Amino acid sequence: MRVSGVRRPLVAGNWKMNGLTGSLVELEAIASGIDELGDKFDAVICPPATLIAAAAVSVRNARVIIGAQDCSAEKQGAFTGDVSAAMVADSGARYVIVGHSERRQGRGETSSDVLRKVERGVASGLVVILCIGETEREMGSDSTEAVLRQQLMESVPRGVDPSLITIAYEPVWAIGTGCVPTLARIADVHAFIRRTLCEIFEDGEDVRILYGGSVKPDNVAEISAIEHVDGVLVGGASLKARDFLAISTAFST
Ligand code: PGA
Repeated sequence: MRVSGVRRPLVAGNWKMNGLTGSLVELEAIASGIDELGDKFDAVICPPATLIAAAAVSVRNARVIIGAQDCSAEKQGAFTGDVSAAMVADSGARYVIVGHSERRQGRGETSSDVLRKVERGVASGLVVILCIGETEREMGSDSTEAVLRQQLMESVPRGVDPSLITIAYEPVWAIGTGCVPTLARIADVHAFIRRTLCEIFEDGEDVRILYGGSVKPDNVAEISAIEHVDGVLVGGASLKARDFLAISTAFST
């Protein structure tokens, strides 16, 4: 991590479908804690869509950045209930997560849907956190690299500014389970993703690669020390300021 010096570490929190107006108090605690940790890393919180606008206002003078958890693949129009990338940006978010496994698996999103979302996000000026990851069955059949390669090849747009794309490697079996791959496995997979990004982009070395899946205060130090781990995407542990700040500390020096 931080070897080349080009990739600024990123700690991103995904609140998923959690959080009402009262949760802005937790966000404010996160924001002031992040300010105290210095400016050597970026910190993003992705609350539910309903809180983005209020969250963006409440942290406007702080370093923490607000993101969205998803956006539509469509630009605008008759898509009841969907939220476009332009709307996400307009509501005050600067990042958007796309391709999370809870949408790929749970909502049947394909890599070509994800590609369109990435393009919409970038076109709206958002930094896109593009999630990829293998299922337990795919890992068991030794197809992790093939799956990740296909997801990258099919969902990363060509010709975009690589600084607007961040990859999050999230093994599906590690999300919300308390199970984490061995450090050697994370190192191997991240190195593989780096090589693949260098095939896609001339500046593939500049693309951040986050690890996500059961990141906690007690395992982040060893994960953050792995080469090509440029930050983390945190679910459950991002809901509590204390845990999110403890995780962020690993990237603050
Ligand atoms: P988790 O979720 O940290 O609760 O495992 C990670 C994610 O889904 O991004």
